[in-house]
Amino acid sequence: MSSLDNKKILLGVTGGIAAYKSAVLLRALQAAGAEVRVVMTSAAQAFVTPLTFQALSGHPVYTELLDPGQEASMDHISLARWADFILVAPATADFIARVANGHANDLLSTLCLAATVPIALAPAMNQGMWLNVATQGNIETISGYGYQLWGPDEGDQACGETGPGRMLEPEALLAKVMDFFAPGPLQDVSVLLTAGGTQEPIDPVRFVGNRSSGRMGYALVEAMRDLGAEVTLISGPVSLLPPTGIEFHSIQTAQEMYAEVMARASDCNIFVAVAAVADYRPGEVAKEKIKKRNDSLSLEMVRNPDILADVSALDDAPFTVGFAAETEQVEAYAEAKRLAKGVDMIAANQVGTSEGGFESDRNALTLLWEGGRESLPMMNKSQLARQLADRIKTHYLKVENARNEN
Ligand code: PMT
Repeated sequence: MSSLDNKKILLGVTGGIAAYKSAVLLRALQAAGAEVRVVMTSAAQAFVTPLTFQALSGHPVYTELLDPGQEASMDHISLARWADFILVAPATADFIARVANGHANDLLSTLCLAATVPIALAPAMNQGMWLNVATQGNIETISGYGYQLWGPDEGDQACGETGPGRMLEPEALLAKVMDFFAPGPLQDVSVLLTAGGTQEPIDPVRFVGNRSSGRMGYALVEAMRDLGAEVTLISGPVSLLPPTGIEFHSIQTAQEMYAEVMARASDCNIFVAVAAVADYRPGEVAKEKIKKRNDSLSLEMVRNPDILADVSALDDAPFTVGFAAETEQVEAYAEAKRLAKGVDMIAANQVGTSEGGFESDRNALTLLWEGGRESLPMMNKSQLARQLADRIKTHYLKVENARNEN
């Protein structure tokens, strides 16, 4: 049994000399049990013909964005939804630049834009092009989008130069795809996670809210999922698409989030509270829109339940991870929250500054647990989430192993 059995892989081929190696890769993926469909850019067809891939895959090769014949067999959106994984090999400097800028000017770039499944690129280009600051900037951008970058390798190049830029060999790419689908270290572990901010209604048109965009929490959902966990996300209103491959529930208020979490908390192994939950809500919600009659308006606010504290107080509490959003004395206040809420680990972040915390694409965290601390420096939230997921995994497995030994 291979980790690629019945996996649907979309192999994108762009215009580099390494395109001929993609035919070998296609065969290797199929031999490992994957179902493969091929999409070629017009430049790729200057190196290898679609017929080669068609003959090898036994399926039509997709080349055109607007081709009525092809659209009838599977349109570009269906093709993006069909795949479990997209691998672009080789990925040229031009293709990388186009996805970095969100272009949708051919079938393959459109698929990458429309896809919600993981995407890996295997760069292949001249070493000077790879090292160029523009390419490196594009690489940083697409890493931030969550793209996997496999390679490039270093060595002799088809152009006669030597350096970084060779596409990884087909066997190495196959190994990476197989690793990607191999059961993760959190297989059979269920993770319940809250993200986004809550909205507490004042009247039918107004609410008390906060600046949470959901980015930190959604990135962590993806990172935990990619470690093999079964993830359930309870999310406040955000403008992000729910990550694929998870269970998703949307709520508006803290009380709704409380109900959804408490219904599941005893059945999960790990609970992570990333949501910015309103501590207070208006005591009464006006039935009609409040009119502008007086110079001032007072709202009486009442306390919301503390979801994180109540989960960690359960008799059969999961491993609990809280966040602490602080504008001052970040570590001291976070440590006080860790102790007060009785959580296993807390991730503290500075909020209210121009970079990091709410809304930003980047963040930095200080992790605190009983007897230890670790700082994760300012970086893109996707990268940060992967590092945090790794630390949660390590601490959770340590606690579980100790529990099993007793
Ligand atoms: O969503 P982004 O724009 O990406 O921003 C990310 C973030 C800044 C929201 C995130 O990194 C973060 O810090 N989340 C926690 C925000 C928060 O409400 O912190 P807090 O210090 O007020 O709460 C402490 C912990 O208790 C949090 O885990 C919170 O989810 C939890 N809590 C708080 C109140 C409440 N009634 N119930 C809770 O469970």
